[in-house]
Amino acid sequence: MSLEKTHKWFFSMRFKLLSVYLIIVMMIFVFILGIFPRIFQSYMIERSEEDLLTTKQIIQETLETGDLTSDAYMRDKLDAVARAKGIEIWICLEPESKLDGSIMIPTIRLGGSRDSQDLQLTSQSSAFIETIRSGRDDESMYMDQFPEYYSQKTLTLAYSTPYIERQPLMGNMYMTQDAVAVVLLNISLEGISQSVQTTMFIILITFTLISIVVAIMILSLANSIVTPVNQMREIAAAITQGDFSQKVEIHSRDEIADLAQTFNLMATELQEVEATQQAFIANISHDFRSPLTSIRGFVQAMLDDVIPPDQYDKYLQIVFNETNRLSKLANDLLLLTRMESGQDELHVSRFDINEMILKLTLGFEQRAEEKKLQIEFKFLQEKLYVNADMDKLQRVIYNLVDNAIKFTGEGDSITVETSIVNKKAFIAVADTGIGMDEESMRHIFERFHKGDKSRGLNKTGMGLGLAIVKQIIVNHGEGIQVYSKEGEGTRFEFTLPLANQVSFVEKK
Ligand SMILES: Nc1ncnc2c1ncn2[C@@H]1O[C@H](COP(=O)(O)OP(=O)(O)OP(=O)(O)O)[C@@H](O)[C@H]1O
Ligand SMILES: [Mg+2]
Repeated sequence: MSLEKTHKWFFSMRFKLLSVYLIIVMMIFVFILGIFPRIFQSYMIERSEEDLLTTKQIIQETLETGDLTSDAYMRDKLDAVARAKGIEIWICLEPESKLDGSIMIPTIRLGGSRDSQDLQLTSQSSAFIETIRSGRDDESMYMDQFPEYYSQKTLTLAYSTPYIERQPLMGNMYMTQDAVAVVLLNISLEGISQSVQTTMFIILITFTLISIVVAIMILSLANSIVTPVNQMREIAAAITQGDFSQKVEIHSRDEIADLAQTFNLMATELQEVEATQQAFIANISHDFRSPLTSIRGFVQAMLDDVIPPDQYDKYLQIVFNETNRLSKLANDLLLLTRMESGQDELHVSRFDINEMILKLTLGFEQRAEEKKLQIEFKFLQEKLYVNADMDKLQRVIYNLVDNAIKFTGEGDSITVETSIVNKKAFIAVADTGIGMDEESMRHIFERFHKGDKSRGLNKTGMGLGLAIVKQIIVNHGEGIQVYSKEGEGTRFEFTLPLANQVSFVEKK
């Protein structure tokens, strides 16, 4: 692997996830190997201690009921208890001096396997027993106290208890005397370390297997995150190069899938934006070029004396109209861009929109008469005060009425309505003209959109009017709708904020 690749791998998601996981696994291993055996062992020792203490209890209860030195039944019973618990019981009676001068401790041994009834103890162990005999009954536990007997690890509970010693005199006669016995309960701990080992072994094997499975799962999880992310990175890089053709493949339903889906959506929208922009540029170039071409053509013709001077007026008028179109186009574009980017502020004032509509439509009278159109006004109240930017609103009404006139024919009518609906000023401009299909209705508010069917009637239109209208209404915080049917007519409806202190009649 090259240095750069190593570097990349080091900072990758896979590496990070895997490292965190490995650290956790290592911590668990340390716990299993280092801490767990100790906890387990001390728990097992505690249980052995409890066993010793309950056995002690049983011994004490049994001793109270009779004489251990002579009662064989009692011994058998204790022997059985000791065997069941894996405990060896030594009951060390009072020591006796032997003829050779040595000291012997007569011992009753239960639960073990040795035959000898006497303990062959080192002097150290004998001394230990005598210390216990002379001391209090304190239930002390000792570890590996009798190495001469037990090669394995052994736990011993040692305590002293009083008993009555009977010494035969003659015939059936005994001499009794109070004595103190030392009871030693020994339990081997060898089983414990073995079971700790076995348990540890089982746990380690299971844990290792689980770790491997989890590692595989983590890697596949990391893959399911990293693969789409990498794909998105590559596709984003392709998009910056202008290639919109690729999409992220979605195989899951998680957040990554959501992200991938949003990413694909973004790519599609970017593609559309790109396409719209290209179409926009193409449209602008086209709309600028055609008037420029005709201007150039006429001027050239005049310079080349192709047009006689007495006809200059006529052609200069055409040139003048074309330059007007060009400057309208430039102004419209500028306004639209400024409004869309929020650079253009509204100059809101309170005015009567009915009055404004009446004044503005006066300018259309001549065109309406030429086309034999009727313009009707339906105002629900005489005055309707709104809070809006008057200049911009004039543009709105102008464009809507201008369109209505353009796309209607002889005998048609145009109606302008105003009223109040839902505490808002409501304005509608309707006509009984050519109308439009649903596809057109969806696009008419887009820049440069001109319906195919209307082209004959709309030679000079740039397709910017409605885009501006909509932007103006939107900037007022209101909305505009269009309803239309081919051959039947079109109706535009929009709302405006009402001005205060108006007593109004609501339209039902
Ligand atoms: N009243 C209407 N009846 C039928 N079609 C309409 C009507 N108003 C608009 N349209 C359709 O919507 C298109 C866009 O209208 P818009 O006002 O944006 O542009 P324009 O009138 O063609 O040009 P401009 O307004 O920029 O001079 C029109 O070309 C026409 O196809
Ligand atoms: Mg228009």
